[in-house]
Amino acid sequence: MTDTWLVTGGAGFIGRVVVEQLLAWTEGPQVVVLDAMTYAAHPVALRAVGESYAGLPESSRLTIVEGDVADGVLVSKLMARVRPRVVLNLAAETHVDRSLSNNAPFVRTNVEGTEMLVRASVDCRVERFVQVSTDEVYGDRVGRRAARETDGVEPTNPYAATKACGDALVQAAVRSSGLDAVITRGCNTYGPGQFPEKLLPLAALRWGADQPMWVYGDGLQERVWLHVDDHAAGILAAARVGTEGAVYHFSGGRPRTNQATLESWRRALGLGGRPDDYLRRVADRPGHDRRYALGDQETRRQLGWAPRRSWRSGLRATAKWLASNPQFWASSLEQHGVSAFFAAQYGEPPVVAS
Ligand SMILES: NC(=O)c1ccc[n+]([C@@H]2O[C@H](COP(=O)([O-])OP(=O)(O)OC[C@H]3O[C@@H](n4cnc5c(N)ncnc54)[C@H](O)[C@@H]3O)[C@@H](O)[C@H]2O)c1
Repeated sequence: MTDTWLVTGGAGFIGRVVVEQLLAWTEGPQVVVLDAMTYAAHPVALRAVGESYAGLPESSRLTIVEGDVADGVLVSKLMARVRPRVVLNLAAETHVDRSLSNNAPFVRTNVEGTEMLVRASVDCRVERFVQVSTDEVYGDRVGRRAARETDGVEPTNPYAATKACGDALVQAAVRSSGLDAVITRGCNTYGPGQFPEKLLPLAALRWGADQPMWVYGDGLQERVWLHVDDHAAGILAAARVGTEGAVYHFSGGRPRTNQATLESWRRALGLGGRPDDYLRRVADRPGHDRRYALGDQETRRQLGWAPRRSWRSGLRATAKWLASNPQFWASSLEQHGVSAFFAAQYGEPPVVAS
């Protein structure tokens, strides 16, 4: 029987790298991507990942299906047809700011979509389901120890609440429907190909157009950063050797404030100047968590996973990629009302015509 892995959200930032790592396995599985191709997807880049393996015997190992994970009929039919052994669920609405202004698409994809996938996975007797989640489900860790893999969730923003709901549906199915599932929770992820609404690519876009980058509040919110290659490798390790029902954490180096992160990023991009000139403070995001912190000791011990990229080399490689791919998102920014989103959020589009 063919070994098939279904990757939802495979045209997104982390999904594309997961697909690439799967295709790179010799004698690896057939990969089917199910993706709704929202504004955050890059189908051209995903196809290029597939084509980079063309010519090898595995050339037809990637199939891309455009569709919504919350469409139960489509999901059941697809799963009955491709019979995946493993499902990796990365399909999600992911931008907190968007969830604050309209959480409906987040509920649909992150909650209903997860439920549809869980139900179909139980029906098709999928051997391993991986729910890709986030450190944000633990809420604000200010003044508290880092969250452990066994801690309960306390989400504080609408995005995180929908992710926590999705995770709860998966945990319920493990217990009540015999689904073999694991949950992974990673910290802030960066690297090539991230949509420029997220902190680092947005800053690069702004600075590239000689505009200051917006900074929420005092800029002292703490985050830990993980390179996308390390995050994807963790997800695949959890899929292969994780224990049914377990939660795994992927943390990076030490915590950094958003301001310090932007200062390092500016240096990696080879740009100079004083923070007062290249940063512009704007009103803080409502309910903005001050600190996220994940403990990942148990995960490292159980999965043998550890991040390989240092912060410095990861930032430098990302800057290099951006310099070689300046037009990667150009057409997307004109579509999907993305410029209008920025204008509503910050009072101006990301690139202001001079
Ligand atoms: N990026 C991060 O910093 C980070 C950190 C921790 C966890 N995560 C989690 O990792 C996962 C992937 O994140 P990402 O950064 O790659 O996100 P992304 O926004 O770059 O990509 C999400 C993908 O999901 C697809 N999608 C959205 N709605 C869909 C639907 N209804 N049906 C099918 N596909 C749909 C989009 O088209 C897109 O390709 C998410 O579950 C996210 O919560 C991300």
